[in-house]
Amino acid sequence: MPESINPQLRDHVQPAFLKALQFRRAIKAFDPERLIEPADFNFICQAARLAPSSNALEPWNLIILRQPALRAQFVERTGANPDQAGLASHLVAITAKTARGIDPAGAHLGHIGATVQGMTPEAIEAWRTRFTGFLANRIHVYGDDAAMFGFTARQAYLALENMLVAAALIKVDSCALEGLDHHEATSVLAGAGLIDPELDAFAVAAVFGYRSVDPKRPQARRPLEEIVTWA
Ligand SMILES: Cc1cc2nc3c(=O)[nH]c(=O)nc-3n(C[C@H](O)[C@H](O)[C@H](O)COP(=O)(O)O)c2cc1C
Repeated sequence: MPESINPQLRDHVQPAFLKALQFRRAIKAFDPERLIEPADFNFICQAARLAPSSNALEPWNLIILRQPALRAQFVERTGANPDQAGLASHLVAITAKTARGIDPAGAHLGHIGATVQGMTPEAIEAWRTRFTGFLANRIHVYGDDAAMFGFTARQAYLALENMLVAAALIKVDSCALEGLDHHEATSVLAGAGLIDPELDAFAVAAVFGYRSVDPKRPQARRPLEEIVTWA
C-alpha cells in the first residue's frame, strides 16, 4: 500500500502550489511603476540558491541589472523586448560556467569543495579525478566546449525555474528570456566587468515584476495522459 500523506498537504498545499503554477504566465508587458519589495526579491533569489545542481557545483550566477544605463544597453544589444526587459521591476541575467570555468582542475570546484562543502584538500583532489571521469566517460562532454557549456547551462535553468515558481507563489509576475542574442549578452556583461568571459557566459535571463497587460490566451498544456508514460 502506498503510504498516505498528511491530508493537510493534499488538501491545501497541493492546490495552492498548482494555483501558483497556473498564475505564472510568460508576461510580455510590465508596469514600470510597480517594484518588487527587496524582501520579496530576496526570497526569489534564495529559491535560485537552493536549486539542485550536478555534482553540487552550482555552476550559475545571478546578475541583477539595475543600473539604468547598463540595463538599457543590455536590452538594446540583445534585442530584448523593451516592454518586458525594459519595464519589469527586475531584470536578471543568469550566467553559467564555461568549459574552462567548470574544468575539474579549476578554481570553481576548489572553491565549492573547500568553502561550501568543507572538504579536505585530499578529498577535493579525489573529487577532481571523479568529476573528470564523470564528464569524460559518463556524460561525454569533456573536451567539447559547447557540450560542457550545455551541461552547466542546463543547471542554470533549474535555478531559473526555481525563481519563476518562487515568484508565482508570492504573486510576482515573470518571464524567462532565452530569445536574446547570447553573444551580445555575454559581451555586455563582460564589458561592464561583471564576468570574465573565459569562465562565465550568459545562459538565460528572466524578468520579474507586475503585469500591465494580461496574457492574450489562457494557459494551454497537453493533458497528463499524453506526457506521462507508465512503463
Ligand atoms: C527557457 C525558456 C525561454 C523562454 N524565452 C522567452 C523569450 O525569450 N521571450 C518570451 O516572451 N517568452 C519566453 N519564454 C516563455 C514561453 O514562451 C512560455 O513559457 C510558453 O509559451 C508557455 O506560456 P506560459 O509560460 O504563459 O504558460 C521562455 C520560456 C522558457 C521556459
